Amino acid sequence: MANPDELLAKMSPAEKAGQLTQFFYFKLPAGAQADPALGLDVEAQPRAVEGELAQGGAGSLLFVTDPAEINRLQRLGVEGNPHGVPLLFGFDVIHGLRTIFPVPIAMAASWDLETIERGQAIAGREARAVGIHWTFAPMVDIARDPRWGRIVEGAGEDPFLGATVAAAQVRGFQQHIIAGPKHFGGYGAALGGRDYDEVNLSDYELWNVYFPPFEAAIKAGAGNVMTAYMDLNGVPASASHWLFTEVLRETWGFDGFVVSDANAVRNLVAHGFAKDLAEAGARAVTAGVDMEMAIADPAYAHLPAAVEDKAVDERVLDERVRKILEAKVRLGLFDDPYVDEERAREVLADPAHREAARVAAQRSAVLLRNEGDLLPLDPAALGSIAVIGPLADSKRDTIGPWVFDFDLDETVTVLDGIRAAAGDKVTHARGIAAGQRTFPSMFDMFGNNAPTDPEGFDAEAELARAVEAAAAADVAVVVAGEWQNMIGEAASRSSLELPGRQLELIQAVVATGTPTVLLVMNGRPLDLRWAAENVPAILDIWYPGTQGGAAVADLLFGAVSPGGKLPFSWPRTAGQIPMIYSHTTSHEPDNQARRYWDEESTPLFPFGHGLSYATFRYRDLTVDREVVGTDESVTVSVEVANESDREAAEVVQLYLHQRYGTASRPVRELKGFDRVVIPARESRRVEFVIGPEHRRYWNAVARDWVLDEAPFDVWVGGSSAADLAGTFEVRAG
Ligand code: NOJ
Repeated sequence: MANPDELLAKMSPAEKAGQLTQFFYFKLPAGAQADPALGLDVEAQPRAVEGELAQGGAGSLLFVTDPAEINRLQRLGVEGNPHGVPLLFGFDVIHGLRTIFPVPIAMAASWDLETIERGQAIAGREARAVGIHWTFAPMVDIARDPRWGRIVEGAGEDPFLGATVAAAQVRGFQQHIIAGPKHFGGYGAALGGRDYDEVNLSDYELWNVYFPPFEAAIKAGAGNVMTAYMDLNGVPASASHWLFTEVLRETWGFDGFVVSDANAVRNLVAHGFAKDLAEAGARAVTAGVDMEMAIADPAYAHLPAAVEDKAVDERVLDERVRKILEAKVRLGLFDDPYVDEERAREVLADPAHREAARVAAQRSAVLLRNEGDLLPLDPAALGSIAVIGPLADSKRDTIGPWVFDFDLDETVTVLDGIRAAAGDKVTHARGIAAGQRTFPSMFDMFGNNAPTDPEGFDAEAELARAVEAAAAADVAVVVAGEWQNMIGEAASRSSLELPGRQLELIQAVVATGTPTVLLVMNGRPLDLRWAAENVPAILDIWYPGTQGGAAVADLLFGAVSPGGKLPFSWPRTAGQIPMIYSHTTSHEPDNQARRYWDEESTPLFPFGHGLSYATFRYRDLTVDREVVGTDESVTVSVEVANESDREAAEVVQLYLHQRYGTASRPVRELKGFDRVVIPARESRRVEFVIGPEHRRYWNAVARDWVLDEAPFDVWVGGSSAADLAGTFEVRAG
């Protein structure tokens, strides 16, 4: 068995620097063009990387997913390294590799930890089968500004939900591969929601809001952490000794390895922080960044010289390299670094993976509105169904952003799903032109571009055709939202409006008088003010993945009931951002004082909101003790009755409020949840234990965690607007 210390003793500083360097290996699909903004020479880059492999100049590669390619490159790496050290292969396996699950924000909306864990376990299984050892996921950045496109990759606004979901994802991935929670830390708070912009966060917000998902991911055993691109309080996060050494390792005991975000070490020069590449490398490695991810020309290539000049202590380098070697040993790569290509094909084709993706899409949908119980639809009672909108039959949009190894042929669109269930009762019209961004996305070269209109598309005639189809049908189903390349990395928006002429399309369909269902395809809240008043049924289906359309049909026709809940407060308009449910009272409780001249200060839909086809009644909330000591727990329990004739799942949520203390605390904070399936006409008693870990918070005056003596209010219900309440008091014993 390979021993990291023995290997280290034999390695030169240049070989060590090689182990700390990770290169992109881009092989673009035939005919694809690299965006010139990337500065990437697609011909020369892979050749240069192969040159590095031949001389032990790399410890890891990213972006290769073909098992035969991985084996070929691994062989170059092992044979090129004087000590036979194998390569680590990393990749962005964000919501599936071949089987695409709903986007992460959607998975979080399921509040279903088993489904989340299973989804990432399947993603990890497929990845490992093709030779990928490590994923740059989960993204656990708290996102409170939906203008920021990367909100789609995380679990939304709440630290408790975020931490719980982060841990479940890590557990899932790490059944097969290393998970790398990212981007440490605070990346989601980019100024103005502009991706990569600077972040200014107080320690109070970092410890109470932005750090808990990272800590939870580390506690769940995550083997890797990725740095963040931006300046955090004036210091580039990727060179922060405080983040990577003091918080991550010394406070939380993280034992894995840290990777920089792509080119983030080099960019310490662009930040106006390091004077040149050599200094950038020296400062990042000293801060605690073990591996540099680079497209070309890495800063860590200067580390041997830095050791020679005594700018970096060789023992620091050894500590970093040891982490990488330990990961390779743990993965068993020294025993067998290659994969079985035949087996990879079998794993990728596993039908159980598709079935799990379908269940996940069912569970992540959120029923925002259902006036007059329009949903579920009964296909037997309907003569015709008009399915409308350019997203209704867009395979690429159905699977969402941040996927690369997908198979469009097996992707089930909403139209496909409805047709499979309702056959020739279904008519379809796009209604409007597919939208295009006005600037290219760096992901376009991987085939991730926006939908295009069919040849000879006539927008005016098409709108008329859609209106006719709606008028002639018994029900209209409009699919509207954002094209998937409008969201994700480098995809911020200044407005939450539906792009293109989609609102006009919805209005024209509703004006026909045909009962209308709106299916929203999105990864961030959108401005649905008009729809929330005028469209009777609104179901948020997110980007639902490979089996999305099949799941949507299951939901529409009532084979299953929607049970998802919003992982963010849904603002009415971009002008209200940021908007969170867990704000403090701050001056007066009267909402009128905080409202805008021209808009309410309340969300369109509150955090945790989500309806069901069943009717749930909450009653009989009990708290087992009136007074508890600071180190003690109380048990809160509640009865949830399903008063309908169908079985359904409900996410029971517990919120807590400390009435006063050494700081003013949020009006309520999520501190527990449980997704329970309740059969028709039955009820369940749901119990939550609230311990000191739920009541402690980081206090900006004490500059430490505190536990106050105070009275507490507790609410349990189906959203953050829950009103069934109880109280207890904490007193030092
Ligand atoms: C940049 C992104 O910020 C990061 O999340 C991703 O993992 C890397 N690129 C690699 O693709």
